[in-house]
Amino acid sequence: MMRIAVLVSGNGSNLQALIDAQIGHQFSGKIIGVLSNKVDAYALQRAKGANIATAVISHKDFPNREGFDEAMHQQLLAWQVDLVILAGFMRILTPNFVSKWQGKMLNIHPSLLPFYKGINTHQRVLNTGDRLHGCTVHFVTAELDAGQSIAQSIIQVGLNDTTERLAQRVHELEHFIYPQVVQWLCNGQLSWENGQAYFNQKPLKQPIQFAQFWN
Ligand code: GRF
Repeated sequence: MMRIAVLVSGNGSNLQALIDAQIGHQFSGKIIGVLSNKVDAYALQRAKGANIATAVISHKDFPNREGFDEAMHQQLLAWQVDLVILAGFMRILTPNFVSKWQGKMLNIHPSLLPFYKGINTHQRVLNTGDRLHGCTVHFVTAELDAGQSIAQSIIQVGLNDTTERLAQRVHELEHFIYPQVVQWLCNGQLSWENGQAYFNQKPLKQPIQFAQFWN
């Protein structure tokens, strides 16, 4: 049974999807702890509601990123977790921290990577006039939003879409795709060796794509 930590900074709807998947026996892992850098993150309430341990480590209490990341690392070691799932965690991680969890740490990002790394993805998609949008689950490497992509969920951008509507539509996709990828990592279908993702023991050449072509 894989022991999982989820790192959050905000609402935690993806955390909720993972909790629901665990309750529904959709994955063979257990969320051991939820770590937030913000004391008022609603995600912490969700964790408490599911009787999951929580920890708050505020980046503001540390003079630099190294100290903050080391404190998080110690908490993860104390929880004895195997996997670290970033779910709306809004701090950039140091290469040193990332290297300790390489191949064991996932992130979900609201765009079809490698397009639109960083923030405000929905607005940027609308500004560019893209017809396709979605979300990506990827392994975390030191460079922001640049680790190998594992799975993507794709939607068509509609004429009525606003940033709010796109955010909502993409969130719905995230809640489906993230528990699925976490399960692949838990059951060994997905693995990582020497900087390469493997799916069913074969090198993953491109992300697994789920598409929904309706609005
Ligand atoms: C999601 O859009 C995710 O892609 C991004 O942060 C957001 C987190 O949302 N990394 P929530 O806190 O899980 O509701």
